[in-house]
Amino acid sequence: MLDKKVVDLLNQQVNKEFYSAYLYLDFSNYYYDHGLDGFGNWYKIQAQEERDHALLFIQYLQNNGETVILEAIDRPSVELVSAKAILCEGLKHEQYVTSLIHNIYDAAYCVKDFRTMQFLDWFVKEQGEEETNADNLVKKFKLFGDDPKSLYMLDNELGSRVYTAPSLVL
Ligand code: FEO
Repeated sequence: MLDKKVVDLLNQQVNKEFYSAYLYLDFSNYYYDHGLDGFGNWYKIQAQEERDHALLFIQYLQNNGETVILEAIDRPSVELVSAKAILCEGLKHEQYVTSLIHNIYDAAYCVKDFRTMQFLDWFVKEQGEEETNADNLVKKFKLFGDDPKSLYMLDNELGSRVYTAPSLVL
């Protein structure tokens, strides 16, 4: 049996990951609506990854005999102001998710829950990559976003992203 606080946080994280998927789907829709299909593709795949993260937390809880509690998913709360502003919001959101993962890790560490810490190791690394990816998008948009030809090429580049299943198998 896992510690109650750890279980509560893991359950909350299921909701947070589904919320992230919802948020990124909203971003994706904005880009498709504004003719930036590559950005739309990039965020649609990001939404799929977030759904996968939620499923991994569910699987981990179930593997440990814990009950999964699904709560309502909030509406995406980010105002979709511009193509560039959305990317900055994406980076901010990933930094927030990193803090959530670290918070669960901290709770597991406090009760010497080494199994959960090991499970979370993958997410700690994943968050590092996700922050880097989000930061790269912001940087690239700052460099190329104001020039239509460059933006077209960047959009094409992002359109080539393909979905891959998570490397973590439980
Ligand atoms: Fe599941 Fe982008 O963090």
